Order: sequence, then C-alpha cells, then structure tokens
Amino acid sequence: MKYTVKNTALSALTGNVIVGVFEEGKLSPAAQALDQLSQGAISQLINAGDVKGKQGEVVTLRLPSANLERIFVVGCGKQGELNVRQYKQLIKSVIQAVKATSAAQVHNFLTEVQINERDLYWNVRFAVESIAESFYQFDQFKSKKSDQNTALQEMVFVVDSAQQTEAEKAVQQGQAIALGVRCAKDVANCPPNVCNPAYLAEQAKELAEKSPHFKVNVLGEKEMAELGMNAYLAVSQGSQNEAQLSIIEYRNHPNPQAKPIVLVGKGLTFDAGGISLKPADSMDEMKYDMGGAASVYGVMNALAELQLPLNVIGVLAGCENLPDGNAYRPGDILTTMSGLTVEVLNTDAEGRLVLCDTLTYVERFEPELVIDIATLTGACVVALGQHNSGLMSPNDRLAEQLLNAAQQSADKAWRLPLSEEYQEQLKSPFADLANIGGRWGGAITAGEFLSNFTKNYTWAHLDIAGTAWLQGANKGATGRPVNLLTQFLIDQVK
Ligand code: BES
Ligand code: MN
Ligand code: ZN
Repeated sequence: MKYTVKNTALSALTGNVIVGVFEEGKLSPAAQALDQLSQGAISQLINAGDVKGKQGEVVTLRLPSANLERIFVVGCGKQGELNVRQYKQLIKSVIQAVKATSAAQVHNFLTEVQINERDLYWNVRFAVESIAESFYQFDQFKSKKSDQNTALQEMVFVVDSAQQTEAEKAVQQGQAIALGVRCAKDVANCPPNVCNPAYLAEQAKELAEKSPHFKVNVLGEKEMAELGMNAYLAVSQGSQNEAQLSIIEYRNHPNPQAKPIVLVGKGLTFDAGGISLKPADSMDEMKYDMGGAASVYGVMNALAELQLPLNVIGVLAGCENLPDGNAYRPGDILTTMSGLTVEVLNTDAEGRLVLCDTLTYVERFEPELVIDIATLTGACVVALGQHNSGLMSPNDRLAEQLLNAAQQSADKAWRLPLSEEYQEQLKSPFADLANIGGRWGGAITAGEFLSNFTKNYTWAHLDIAGTAWLQGANKGATGRPVNLLTQFLIDQVK
C-alpha cells in the first residue's frame, strides 16, 4: 500500500473519493463540495434516509454528474464527538468497503474530520495504522491462503498545503510503527514448535542486515552459565530447546558515548508452567508468553525505519518452561547473577526468574534507563482487564513519560503502585526472596520482585499479560505495546 499526501480540490478529481458526513444531515466540507457538484445528490440521499451519518456507516455511490468514479460516504456520527477508537473503527469500515470494489486509488477527505483533542498528524497516523491493521493476516501455516487480491494500491490523504509536512511525517511514522507492529505480530503468532528461543535469536540476527546501526550478539546457555545466570538457566533446564539471550544494539546517537535506552522483553516461547503445570484449558495461548520479546523486536524494526538519533539496546530473553525429569522444582533455591538467592515456590512464576538475571546483565550497558516488557502475571489481567497494560516504576518521571506516550499513541497503560510493604510478601524462610508473593496484588508483587534487581538504574516495568494478544473470534497477537514504546522513543528525541 502506498500513501501519498496531496493538496487537491474535490472538483478537480475524477477517481474515487472518501468523504465524511455527520448525523443530523451535517456535511463535511468535501461532502458539501460534492453536493454542489452533483446538484444536491448527497442532500437528497440524506433526506431520503439512505445516508444517516451514523458512525461506521459506509455508502458506496456512483454519481455520474460529479465526474467521479466512486464516492465512499462515511458516517462519522455526531459532529465534534468522534474519539480515537471510533475513528480507527470507521477507517476499518471504509477500507472494507473500498476493498469490495475495484478501486485502485482513493482520495481520502476524512482528513477534515476532527477527532477529539487530536490534530491532523494523529488523523493521518491513526489512519495509516488502522489500514495496516485491516490488511494484516497470519496465514503462513494455511495451505489455502485467504484471498487478499484487493485492487487498492494507493491512499491519498488530501490536506491543505500548510499541513503537507505534518501529514507526511504522520505517514512516515505511522508506516514505521505499522511495520513494527506487524513484525511483532508475526513472531508472536508463530507456533511454539517453530518459534522457539533459537528462532527468536535468528530473527534478531537478521535485523543486523537491515541497518548498519545494528549490532547483534546472542548468548547461549554456556555463556549464561559463565555469567552466573542461574535463575534464567533453571527455567530453561526442563526444555530440549536451548535458551538464547539476544542483544540487539542500535547506535545512532550523535554522541556515540550517550547512554543507551535498554528494552528487555520476556521471551518465553512457550510456558507450560513447568512442574507447577498449568491447566490444559487455553494452554496453547502460552505461545504468546514471548509477547514482550516480540514487542522489543517490533520496536527495533520500527527504529530501523525511523532512524531515530538515539542509542537503544533491545534484549530478547528467549526461553521455554516445560515439565521434565530434569526440570527445576518447587523448593529449589537458585543463586541469581546478582548474588541474591531465590526460593522457587511455583515454577510457573518463571518470567521474573528469566528477567531478574537479564536485568542484572544489562547493568553492563550503563543504561540511561531500562524498560522491561513482559506477559508476567494473570493478576495484572484481573486488575486491569485486557485494554490497559500495567505500568510500574519507582521513578515518577519515567512513569509519566510512558503514560504520556501510551495516551498519545492510544496504546493504553495504567500505573500500579510499588512500595516496600509489598516486599514482605516475598520473604522466604530459606532464601533472600521467594519467587511468588501470595494471593493479593500479584502484578505488584511480581514488579516488586524485579525491583530487587534494578537498583542500579532508572527502571520501569510493563506487564502486558492482558494486552499482548486477543482471545476468541479475533484470536491473535496485537503487537502491543510497540506503538507505546516507539512513541516513547520518538518523544525522547524532541
Ligand atoms: N506467563 C504467565 C502469566 C500469564 C498468565 C500471562 C495468563 C497471560 C495470561 C506467567 O508466567 C505465570 O504463569 N504467572 C503466574 C504467576 C503465579 C504463579 C504467581 C500467574 O499469573 O498465574
Ligand atoms: Mn508461568
Ligand atoms: Zn510465563
């Protein structure tokens, strides 16, 4: 799909156009122009009740009198009341209608439609993101691919000439983010017999060919053993698939010595729970337990497109958690890379064990800040549901910046508290820490567990257990929080 930005009058066009109408017969400027060109044809349709302006309504018209091929009239609801979610839905509806025709190029006048508290940049960027989403398919493993033979090749955003630059930036950034989201979805949707830790590492290595700013290094179990990453290794020891820790360095800061932003992704390519085995129901969804690593991989792809002048290190902590004769046990005491010892009380609380050693490992990069992203706890889904990622950080400034990026990018996050009282729940009679904190506040105690390993830098934790994938009819990876994180990085440049 090609996106272009142009300043054209509707009267000068001959092809396909998308125009908005509102409820109560209110027309957008383009719809008004069209109405005039066609001797009131739009008003007549409204008066006849064929066009109501209801949100998401799309009426496809041919108006010979207007010299145009097709007109997609899109209902935008009550004027002045369109929110981001509704706008994205509306874009998806119109794309569906366009796909049903043989239109190859469309001129989009929805750029005139005001989204609540958003400017033109967001109108265009959300459109690009939504279009990419409606084209996404994961049918690599189907013998019969779904029919994607759509004629649509080009979307032209029609804007005032004064807005040209802003709209072009929105197209460029929207496309980079859409690419990052697609990359994240593709690896996350990939089945666990294919997407194992070695596969994740392979994807990371291939990134190095995408841009000269990348340097990729992969640690296997031997290297991890030498470093004393015993908690990480304990989780992996029940699996035939070797754990792989991929480090993707992106260096493009004008000052090469600038401290890097480090993103650490939990990469459990499958989490059966280990000896504390999970119930069978929905266990297949634990292929998504590498959603954090997938999002870091996605962000690194977006970064290669955006070429942001930053130093960013993406870390994919690949591992598999399975029951086995050689698996780690409840009761085992592990000595982490940091020196802290951990009593394992539940082998299904494995994410924090993989992450704690990885978080110690990244100290060597002397990070500006570290953000870990993990499908860490079912408790986070209980607390926040499936629409907000859980954000935890002892640093108010970093938390604010991330919440702001989440709000801007419409990739929602909500902050949960951290404080020392919760550490009581992690006490063990035999080791420095237990790996679970009991029934209450499970998302927070998991965050608290990690906080013991992040004292030497500024840190935030994103629990994406509820947001990384969708269940039910639309089952599949969401690519979240690629959008939030990429926005955060874009904001770091300003
Ligand atoms: N990967 C899971 C968390 C998870 C569960 C994500 C359901 C998405 C949906 C994690 O490794 C896990 O099993 N956590 C346990 C922790 C518990 C044993 C303290 C959980 O949430 O049940
Ligand atoms: Mn688990
Ligand atoms: Zn897990």
